[in-house]
Amino acid sequence: MGSLSKQEQVECREKAEYANVNWDELGFALTKTDYMYVMNFTEEEQKFFNGTLTRFGNIEMCPSSGILNYGQGLFEGLKAYRKEDEGILLFRPQENALRMKIGADRMCMPSPTVDQFIDAVKKTVLANKRWVPPYGRGSLYVRPLLMGTGRNLGVKPSSDYTFLVYASPVGNYHKGDLNLMVEDNVRRAIPGGTGGIKAVTNYSPVYKPLTEAKAKGFSDLLFLDASTGSNIEEGSACNIFILKGNVISTPTTHGTILPGITRKSIMEIASDFGYQVEERAIPIKEVFDAEEIFCTGTAMVVKSVASITYQGKRIEYKLGVETLAQKLHATLTGIQTGLIEDKLGWTMLID
Ligand code: COI
Repeated sequence: MGSLSKQEQVECREKAEYANVNWDELGFALTKTDYMYVMNFTEEEQKFFNGTLTRFGNIEMCPSSGILNYGQGLFEGLKAYRKEDEGILLFRPQENALRMKIGADRMCMPSPTVDQFIDAVKKTVLANKRWVPPYGRGSLYVRPLLMGTGRNLGVKPSSDYTFLVYASPVGNYHKGDLNLMVEDNVRRAIPGGTGGIKAVTNYSPVYKPLTEAKAKGFSDLLFLDASTGSNIEEGSACNIFILKGNVISTPTTHGTILPGITRKSIMEIASDFGYQVEERAIPIKEVFDAEEIFCTGTAMVVKSVASITYQGKRIEYKLGVETLAQKLHATLTGIQTGLIEDKLGWTMLID
């Protein structure tokens, strides 16, 4: 698919209505948008029903709700992208809907159907259309939440649930180089735990080591597996890949690693490029002789790792236009924004 000429881009942009945002200043922080979507599951109905768009704002819940007391909750993250002709594309929303169902099962929660999930995401994006950044200047990050909102004082699954979708325009997750520190003490996930789903409780337990690492100038942490402490697993909000020769490897997702949708997409794109893609246990010592390392995630997209520090030893990696990470990034975002033909049916046009 060819690009629009500069003149055509200007004409399309003039027709579109945009919120008053400095798009070039966007990072990964909340910009309040106009609407959010809310749908409830009640003990009486035993289903999610009457989903509706409401003005974005604070919500009320019982102080004894399951999410507040026992962390019975999940979230998802996906993005809407503006095309050059101002159309809006969602990227693989079915995958998020299915991942939420798997997570809900693990957390003993009911979940919206795939159709309800996608419908809610579409409605949220379209209601907040003016907040979808112009082509090439960011994306609208969509955050579906599933929470136990019934009254529950005892330790047991909630009686009632709320599915809520909000959105915020975002730019880069990390500005600047990605310098990782290997966390040798705190483990992010344990076998049999919830590391493989997007439980809300997976994230704040790493704030302490993450804050300490940031105070030392690192951008993020790289976690090791809890069983042996010798294999790499993932970052605090991203998956990891290493490149050596023609082989790209990423840790296997068997319960402690999030099965990222960007991870899965990058594996397919890399194999299409002719690389051998392996999912396996990756000993930390392999990062010392990797040619390139990169992280993937919905928020992160694809980003080269500039350095990894482990037990005081720092290794630096190749960055810039010649890296595989850059080529993968260009192809992925090309598909996400409609610039590159979507042969696999990953995108959904909603405008
Ligand atoms: C995402 O990439 O959507 C994530 O889940 C990362 C988020 C925790 C910021």
